[in-house]
Amino acid sequence: MKALVLAGGAGTRLRPFSYSMPKQLMPIANKPVLVHIVETLRSISVKQIGMIVGSHADEIRSVLGDGSAFNVQISYIVQDSPRGLAHCVQIARGFLGDDDFVMYLGDNILPEGISEVADEFRMGRPAAQVVLHKVPDPQAFGVAEVDPDGWVTALVEKPKEPKTDLALIGVYFFTPAIHQAVAAIKPSPRGELEITDAIQWLVSSGWKVRGHVYSGFWKDTGNVEDLLECNRELLDGLRTSIAGDFDAATQFTGPVVLEAGARVSRSRLVGPVIVGAGSIVEDSYLGPHTTVGRDCQLRQTSIDNSILLNGAKVHQVRDIYGSIIGRFSILSASPGTGRNRLVVGDHTSLEVTG
Ligand code: TTP
Repeated sequence: MKALVLAGGAGTRLRPFSYSMPKQLMPIANKPVLVHIVETLRSISVKQIGMIVGSHADEIRSVLGDGSAFNVQISYIVQDSPRGLAHCVQIARGFLGDDDFVMYLGDNILPEGISEVADEFRMGRPAAQVVLHKVPDPQAFGVAEVDPDGWVTALVEKPKEPKTDLALIGVYFFTPAIHQAVAAIKPSPRGELEITDAIQWLVSSGWKVRGHVYSGFWKDTGNVEDLLECNRELLDGLRTSIAGDFDAATQFTGPVVLEAGARVSRSRLVGPVIVGAGSIVEDSYLGPHTTVGRDCQLRQTSIDNSILLNGAKVHQVRDIYGSIIGRFSILSASPGTGRNRLVVGDHTSLEVTG
């Protein structure tokens, strides 16, 4: 079985980060989302991965390369613009050939893995197998209707009055039958070739489509709140590992990872916390569920439940929570002025004490 990972797209919900980097490389527990995905695919014995990339292709290539570092082979397929999930299947036809494949949305995280559903698909080989998750707000998703034996009877995209609470999440298994479906459908009113339309075409044409209800943790990391929640979930499994340095005046509680070259002085770290390689933390408090990327600097700061991307600097700012601080951003106090000075990029959101 091959894999098709979708790492193009517009990423509008994750602005401003997605202006300068692909959202699929945002770090969760200090590791890019796509690396989590490649490891998940490797764990179900997939070795050949087709990676759909858009305008941020070069950065994705520079992180994943040819896949050999992860013991897989990655082929890159460039999509000229986000024309829909089924369009990705269409442009990957040459890579996919007549093999079965798993299609994985490049911003989805399923930390418990997909072995069970992969085994079920490999045993039964229905034309398609979709992964379903019970959600409180099915109106926001593609929703499946499933008979008592687990066969999908209908799929509806963002229904106003959903008949079930079973949303399609970002993992799909296909036999080559999907190529006929993708060739048969037309773009939706929003101008995209929709994968739900292609799967509905299979159902309407009498092909067998199976629904697998996945009850583990799942997140689409496409917006800030979900990214932070996913970071918390993965950090909850953290184990202490200290490769960096800390002084005698530093205290740790709970699981803490100090990567090589990290230096912590006169600080209190309450895990789960990760401090990335080469980062400096001085006279600061890092609270639970905080991840600090590479080469960051934190001085006289307190922060929890947050993600700092590589090269971020925070000086003398207290009580930061639920925040994502972008690469090489600088957050500092302006002592004595009693005023705030902000240089804020497009589509940025700031909440200050007022
Ligand atoms: P979405 O999150 O649905 O779309 P998006 O990336 O454009 O994000 P936003 O809604 O914030 O603007 O896409 C799911 C995944 O599929 C994501 O990793 C991007 C990828 N994708 C493609 O590779 N090509 C496409 O044509 C589309 C629509 C998405």
